[in-house]
Amino acid sequence: KRIVVFISGGGSNMLSLAKAAAAPDFPAEIIAVIADKADAGGLEKAAALGISTFSFVRKDFPSKEAHEAAILAELDRLRPDFLCLAGYMRLLSAVFIQRYEGRILNIHPSLLPLFPGLHTHQRAIDAGMKIAGCTVHFVTEGMDDGPIVAQAAVPIIPGDTPETLAARVLTVEHRTYPLALQLVAEGKVRMEAGRAISEAVGE
Ligand code: GRF
Repeated sequence: KRIVVFISGGGSNMLSLAKAAAAPDFPAEIIAVIADKADAGGLEKAAALGISTFSFVRKDFPSKEAHEAAILAELDRLRPDFLCLAGYMRLLSAVFIQRYEGRILNIHPSLLPLFPGLHTHQRAIDAGMKIAGCTVHFVTEGMDDGPIVAQAAVPIIPGDTPETLAARVLTVEHRTYPLALQLVAEGKVRMEAGRAISEAVGE
């Protein structure tokens, strides 16, 4: 399966996906990385692995629609089977999502449905949570609310700051996203009628 990864920043999740996909028996390959910033750190990391990179800088386009149209045109050339958002800090329009219905994954640094949106680690600490974690989900028109594919939890330790918690959550993000992508690329989990459907074990 052909995967395009979307990033806005350092791309540590993109790197984890690229490393996992390098395994000969992995059912997907990362064919390109797209960033919405020309200086996204992940672009250099992807290029160093020989992965094609593209940046579509929002301010270079007169509107959100024009920005997305340019990205969609490049995707038509790349012909991806799935898109993986990985630290991509921009909401996709309904038109864009419908174009890739059921074929867009995202990783979010909380145990959804808790703490959608931003500053998830500070909010979990402030709420007195004893666990935190990450969620890989199918992207739907709502923000951070699509059907869940995989989750992983970590403890919140007294004295944790958002930074120390973020670092602990990232370690399980880097394991969970490749696992989730493998399940989806193999067709073991798919989105149907707004739900994540898993193939029965052993089928
Ligand atoms: C990660 O916490 C991820 O969950 C969120 O963005 C953060 C940075 O991701 N979406 P990365 O290092 O750019 O992959």
